[in-house]
Amino acid sequence: MKRSLSLTALPLTALMLAFGAQAAAPEEAMNKAGCMACHAKDKKMVGPAFKDIAAKYKGQEVIAKLMEKVRKGGAGAFGPVPMAPNGADKINDADLKAAIELILKT
Ligand code: HEC
Repeated sequence: MKRSLSLTALPLTALMLAFGAQAAAPEEAMNKAGCMACHAKDKKMVGPAFKDIAAKYKGQEVIAKLMEKVRKGGAGAFGPVPMAPNGADKINDADLKAAIELILKT
């Protein structure tokens, strides 16, 4: 039974490695999720620049609120252009939280 044991351990290790790598690179997660099609670090595109988002919410506890906004999409915070909804199929909760923490530090 030694053989089947090591076979089950392998994918688990790979999963842990992949998860660790993702959590360390929110930029990569945002690239994959398509955020960068509408956002850039320091210039306005379809969506506001990350540095403008950081400036708007400076000193506020907004991570949960912004996570919900990115999930559901919507307009009104920066103008009439809405953000499209971004589901968990595009970016998981851990990566989304890391992404928003990064945006707020921009
Ligand atoms: C289709 C274009 C588009 C995509 C894709 C997109 N955004 Fe946005 N985003 C916008 C627009 C437009 C706004 C401004 C919405 C507003 O004025 O309320 C915005 C606003 C935001 C805000 C500020 C929200 C607020 O209420 O102040 C955050 C944070 C954000 N986006 C993060 C993300 C992240 C993270 C992703 C990827 C998972 C993403 N966006 C993908 C267009 C986009």
